[in-house]
Amino acid sequence: MEDPLLSWRPEFPILERTTYLVSHSLGAMPRAVGKRLEEYTDTWSSRGVRAWAEGWWRMPITVGDAVGRIIGAPPGSVVMHQNVSVCQALVLSCFVFSSRRNKIVYEELNFPSVMYVYEAHRALGAEVVTVPSDDGISVPLERFLAAIDERTLLVPLSHVVFKSAFIQDVPAIVRRAHEVGALVVADLYQSAGTVPVDVAAWDVDFATGGSVKWLCGGPGAGYLYVAPRLRNQLAPRLTGWMAHRAPFAFEPGAIEYADDATRFLHGTPAVPALYAAQAGYEIVAAAGVEAIRAKSMRQVQMLVDLARERGFRPHVPERPEQRGGMVILDVPHGQAVTRELLRREVIVDFRPGAGIRFSPHFYSTDAEISRALDETRRILDSGAYQAHEAMGGTGF
Ligand SMILES: Cc1ncc(COP(=O)(O)O)c(C=O)c1O
Repeated sequence: MEDPLLSWRPEFPILERTTYLVSHSLGAMPRAVGKRLEEYTDTWSSRGVRAWAEGWWRMPITVGDAVGRIIGAPPGSVVMHQNVSVCQALVLSCFVFSSRRNKIVYEELNFPSVMYVYEAHRALGAEVVTVPSDDGISVPLERFLAAIDERTLLVPLSHVVFKSAFIQDVPAIVRRAHEVGALVVADLYQSAGTVPVDVAAWDVDFATGGSVKWLCGGPGAGYLYVAPRLRNQLAPRLTGWMAHRAPFAFEPGAIEYADDATRFLHGTPAVPALYAAQAGYEIVAAAGVEAIRAKSMRQVQMLVDLARERGFRPHVPERPEQRGGMVILDVPHGQAVTRELLRREVIVDFRPGAGIRFSPHFYSTDAEISRALDETRRILDSGAYQAHEAMGGTGF
């Protein structure tokens, strides 16, 4: 069968040497990242300090626009930061928890780093409520909606759950939140680039994510979307001179916020990371997330079927339309098997309490999926995992 997305393979050098099925963790590096970083060093060495005025200073916005094209955000509504944890803290810094509306509601399967940020705000009066999962895979929508009430301030949920790739119904949760005056912060890390997202159509209040995974943009390029209708009502306490309406006036005292999205910046941006990240956004946008999703749904089903044939238990949502791009397999001796897979150039990862995580992306072939599952079976049957059993620790 013809697969036009495979024409992108030559753009990703690591695919020549490995079976790369780990884009839920670190997407393959586009060849063009080298050129982008060269552009950065050339600019620094030839233009020196003039580089700020010639583009560097605006990069959190110009690069944010490239992310915006993938997540359905209008131009000028996305700013770049280092990571999701900082973006969540920045959103939280716009609120106080001293009134009756002090409740934070999110799923039990939320990404732990996000939980750490919200949990830390209990000390300032936030009440954190988690919506339980019955099976460690999905979160019942009705239960989530029922947990959001008139006392709810924020709903910082994951669009796609990192532990199981379960897709949450963000538009339904936004509707419920808005009915009672609460705001939604959607973490798009495990969806943007593989599952279609439209923050404007869904009327999401805030969205955040990073570029390390499905966007193939590398570390240091997190993003924050704030709905333009909210912008001027918000005064982040996590702030700095980039958020000032006249940063180069160097005015002492309290900040006077900018009227555009730079209001949600703080200090000097991570310029090299922003150069590198653009190569991934360009390829993902050109490949098209709709086409990526269609292929992903087919390959995820293939992975599930082949895994079952080989005697493994997939830890996935039941219905294909509820699944993101990753499949977790409950494999005996999972961590040791993963280490042997890595040694054999099959690149996957392991999460305790979940299993071995496999992710085809738009550049993956069907043959790579079969190969990964065959190797997994062979490693178990031959006992080749045993040499790794004694090693402690977890890690990537
Ligand atoms: C859903 C989700 N959110 C956030 C993160 C990472 O957060 P940060 O960008 O703060 O490192 C991950 C990484 O695995 C994730 O899967």
